[in-house]
Amino acid sequence: MDVGDLSPVERTTLLTEYARAVDARQPRPILGDPLADEVVRKIDYDYSTLGVTPSVRCLVALRARMLDDRVRAFVAAHPDAVVVDLGSGLSSMVYRVDPPGSVDWYSVDLPGVLALRSALLPPRTGSHTVAASVAEPGWCDAIPAHRPTMAVADGLFAFLTEPAIVSLLRRITGHFDSGAVAFNDYGRVSKLNRITGQLAMRGSNSPHLQWNFAGFKDPRQPERWNSDLRLVEEASAMFEPETEQFPRGLRAASRLARRVPAIARKARILRFEFARS
Ligand SMILES: C[S@@+](CC[C@H](N)C(=O)[O-])C[C@H]1O[C@@H](n2cnc3c(N)ncnc32)[C@H](O)[C@@H]1O
Repeated sequence: MDVGDLSPVERTTLLTEYARAVDARQPRPILGDPLADEVVRKIDYDYSTLGVTPSVRCLVALRARMLDDRVRAFVAAHPDAVVVDLGSGLSSMVYRVDPPGSVDWYSVDLPGVLALRSALLPPRTGSHTVAASVAEPGWCDAIPAHRPTMAVADGLFAFLTEPAIVSLLRRITGHFDSGAVAFNDYGRVSKLNRITGQLAMRGSNSPHLQWNFAGFKDPRQPERWNSDLRLVEEASAMFEPETEQFPRGLRAASRLARRVPAIARKARILRFEFARS
């Protein structure tokens, strides 16, 4: 399958999918998603240009595992749930979580990615796609609003601007009656860091070149953007038992991160709840 027509930001989906595919090929995978491996093998692409180092592979696999666990718990508590995977890319999260048929799952992404998704991933009852930009109003109009809803974003926010993220969060709590929002987060990413990353990756296909968001240190920052959100969890990947499978340098960083919050927050999951009063 050719992906030459994808825009640079749409192409960022190849990095996370490839990272999970390589994880699946390990003798002891962290996530273990064989469908990701099937999908990347069907795409004609030079994945070596993406910069998927062993550390990137481990961190992407682990945060997917952490988000899967949160979505699984939500649908177990709410069998009538709606799950909205924002910037779903080619992710096979719905197959990994494998919710009951009473759950409706919406994968929202840009049109080029969703065309590829439909061509590469098997159809599934209760699975729907919404081809739209989450930075524009209207993406949620066709999604049921009155059921418990979990919105999840794995790897999306880095590619949005801060105003787009603020509007997206307000749109979620404005449209859906109640539920949760969970996403991966890197803490504050300084301009120097972003520019250094972009210079280092110049000429490659690294998603660093599409990075738009400076992030935030205080996990409660989204509560200040949107008073309907209540922080219920900040969980760093650096505390997970799977860090023992990390390559040596990253394993050392994860041990340090347990004592240094500034490092721990570089690989965290944030989860918020909301309910209309
Ligand atoms: C790094 S990929 C992550 C994809 C997927 N969540 C995963 O874990 O593999 C980022 C995704 O966000 C999507 N994206 C970026 N900007 C978007 C926007 N404004 N609206 C919808 N999707 C967007 C990209 O097309 C891409 O699929």
